[in-house]
Amino acid sequence: MRARWSSRLAFIMAATGAAVGLGNIWKFPYMAGENGGGAFVFLYLIFVALIGVPALIAEIMIGRLGRDTPVKALQKLSAQAKASPKWRYLGWWGGLGLVLVLSFYSVIGGFSIGYLTELGFHGLDHFGSVAAVHLFFDAFLANPFNLLTWHTLFMIFTLSVIAFGVRSGLERASNILMPGLFFILFILMIYSIYVGDPAAAINFLLKPQLCDVTAAAALNALGHAFFTLAIGAGAMLVYGAYLPQQTRIGSSICIIAFLDVLVAIFSGLAIFSIVFAYELPVAGGPGLMFKVLPVAFVHMPSGALFGALFFILLLFAAWTSSISMAEPLVVLVMDRFCLKRKVACALIGLLCWILGVLASLSFNVWKDVRIFGHFSVFDAMADLTTNIILPIGGLCFVLFAGWVLKYTDTEYRLISHHPLGYELWRFLVRFIAPVGILLSFVFNLL
Ligand code: PHE
Repeated sequence: MRARWSSRLAFIMAATGAAVGLGNIWKFPYMAGENGGGAFVFLYLIFVALIGVPALIAEIMIGRLGRDTPVKALQKLSAQAKASPKWRYLGWWGGLGLVLVLSFYSVIGGFSIGYLTELGFHGLDHFGSVAAVHLFFDAFLANPFNLLTWHTLFMIFTLSVIAFGVRSGLERASNILMPGLFFILFILMIYSIYVGDPAAAINFLLKPQLCDVTAAAALNALGHAFFTLAIGAGAMLVYGAYLPQQTRIGSSICIIAFLDVLVAIFSGLAIFSIVFAYELPVAGGPGLMFKVLPVAFVHMPSGALFGALFFILLLFAAWTSSISMAEPLVVLVMDRFCLKRKVACALIGLLCWILGVLASLSFNVWKDVRIFGHFSVFDAMADLTTNIILPIGGLCFVLFAGWVLKYTDTEYRLISHHPLGYELWRFLVRFIAPVGILLSFVFNLL
């Protein structure tokens, strides 16, 4: 791969674009709500610091050293290290994860388009009271035609960016829009704190109760750490392949992880301040954000405009993430089946669209269909990828970077200028991360 980011800043912006998305604003609050609040946040922060950051450095490093698609980079590096060529299957495993993530991501990205059009055409007319907001959301979900339209639009947006190569334009736009999202989210948080119950929100999110620390909460927190940092699927590997020769990786990743966590905390505080003030249920499931934020918009001056702006920026954040999922898939398929870019885009788009249709229908027509007697199709897709596929992918990446690869002097300086920084990373990647991931699985099985 010849392409390179123009600077370290360009890399940080792009990788933050991939990391910050629906995972932070939509998924984090509802996962926290369903998994004991503070206990989940506490575990999530520990997992980000001790497993997520080292694993992300590992994945980026593999991309930087292999400079190719995930499959080929792993093939090349394992040949150099005289290790089994089977490591290349990790690239396909990541591809499977990306297909599933992109499919359900597009459905929720579609929800944002739906809310944006609602705010655009009807303002806050249908959000007059908490009950009205809930009614609106239930009616929104109940209409399969609605959900399919928005899902289809989101998928077309994502794939056309990749098919027609207007990426650089989008990247330039996201350099303005990402800071915009931070700003709007910050205002939203301040406003929610002002009209809501921030003390209860802080108490819920930041004070862990030991009894809430369950095996399930731990696995959810681990999975979410991987999801939000986009680890374990090869998406970040591809971003690493475009790194300029001498970019310092370790410190760049710390900045990205910090921003990623910050957005999630902002969003959590905004949402739960409202939840507690209006006595809404904390475990609101995937609909939480959509049922809570309109309540805040209604009480704001120019709330409809603010709400519309929020959804526009959220859409862009979702878009930059979904592009980071689709791009590796498209190059993987182009490379393996010798296809043209547009054909590969169409195939990937069709596959993810079909899976997304199944996920959309599980909110209405197939509401009662349960997989393993428990999960709806949407939940099964979201949980399977987040809690199983990404952590297993991440586990393999850390094992590969920690045990298979050998580093030259100049290479380890890419991870950290300080020998201690490198040693710390190596220790985390070789021991702490693999053991942590395995323990989370084992406790859950027990
Ligand atoms: N990190 C993205 C988010 O939080 C989701 C994502 C997962 C992106 C996996 C790429 C790969 O929204």
